[in-house]
Amino acid sequence: MIEEIQCTINGTARKITVDGERVLLWVLRTDLGLTGTKYGCGEGLCGACTVLIDEEAVRSCQTAVREIRGKRVVTIEGLAAGGKLHPVQEAFMEHDALQCGYCTPGMILQATAFLRRHQEPSRADIIDAMEDNLCRCGAHNRIVRAIQAAASRMKGER
Ligand code: FES
Ligand code: FES
Repeated sequence: MIEEIQCTINGTARKITVDGERVLLWVLRTDLGLTGTKYGCGEGLCGACTVLIDEEAVRSCQTAVREIRGKRVVTIEGLAAGGKLHPVQEAFMEHDALQCGYCTPGMILQATAFLRRHQEPSRADIIDAMEDNLCRCGAHNRIVRAIQAAASRMKGER
């Protein structure tokens, strides 16, 4: 059924006219051109499609677009603020926490949601939090180091 869905995407109020059952991943990528959100498995198993909805990490391939009604969605394109990268983005760059980069937007958004709730995570906490986000390039060790660095930086900023 075609519906009008009001929401905020990357800080901008939007009114989307769309079949409410349509998968959020395809609304973001195909309808809105936000191709930073990646298609990996399409089954909720890899985390490549992760976005933030009201600050929670959500798999957009498993989310009907009507679920974002009245909510705030952030994709990787909207994470930087005021011309400055988010600390998690900076740490991924500094620690070279990627190879092909395909998993990176999902990793960064998953880590961002996690660090908002956990201010002093242990290495084990980070590994636990990230274990369902897959990296086919095997960059996991560098990803964990980057998230540790981001946690320290965010703690300093607080
Ligand atoms: S594409 Fe959504 S979890 Fe893999
Ligand atoms: S950097 Fe290639 S999939 Fe993770």
